[in-house]
Amino acid sequence: MTADQLRSYLELYRDLGISTIYKARPPRPDLTETSVLTEPELISEIRANAPRPHTVLPSIAPEDDTLEKIRLDIGDCKRCRLCEARHSIVFGSGNEQSRLVFVGEGPGADEDAQGIPFVGRAGQLLTQMIDNTASKEGIPIRRDDVYICNVVKCRPPENRAPQPDEMEICGQYLYRQLMAIQPKAICALGATAMRALLNSKLGITKMRGEWQKWNGIPLMISYHPSYLLRQYNQEAKRQAWEDLKKVLHFVYD
Ligand code: URA
Repeated sequence: MTADQLRSYLELYRDLGISTIYKARPPRPDLTETSVLTEPELISEIRANAPRPHTVLPSIAPEDDTLEKIRLDIGDCKRCRLCEARHSIVFGSGNEQSRLVFVGEGPGADEDAQGIPFVGRAGQLLTQMIDNTASKEGIPIRRDDVYICNVVKCRPPENRAPQPDEMEICGQYLYRQLMAIQPKAICALGATAMRALLNSKLGITKMRGEWQKWNGIPLMISYHPSYLLRQYNQEAKRQAWEDLKKVLHFVYD
């Protein structure tokens, strides 16, 4: 019975002139008869057990967290089924004090083999996009100056999308990575990264290109580079370059 249902029963009993309620308790060895609660006692029990909508949950990121501690906590992770076929845990790479973090979906075959995120075809495109856009815009950074990681750290079999429970388990480490780095901005690449960082039901085409917030940190959603590798996505490519320019100028101007 919910607290509201109990409250309406109490009101009904009070209207009927009943002010003492009997509540059955689990029998105690020394006391087997039914115990008696007065109305104020019952109300305070209801209050004590009512759900608290504004309870603030403790942070899952410990004080003074570092990427090194997070990697140590991950260890030889067996917390989800993705451990079964992986060769390496792809934690992240780049400048650990970076003002900009890119978040992808999860390692592919090349990343699994090398233990480094975004080194396959999609990764080469991402590297080119960062290096070329920064150079054209007069921003003195290259890929190694930013930090790159993924929502899940182990390769999903056949490159399938990570499942919700896998994202939830691994998501705590992404959360800690972002909290430890505290970048000036985050760029989420693709729908999986967007879903991991934002509680939005909208599609990526609606969300990309506009600033959002993740725990107070400006967050840009853009397309995943592997989507841009498909021939017919020329317009998406143009938009992704626009998104990247916006991010680089925001962070480094
Ligand atoms: N795709 C991703 O999302 N991440 C990688 O590391 C490689 C490809």
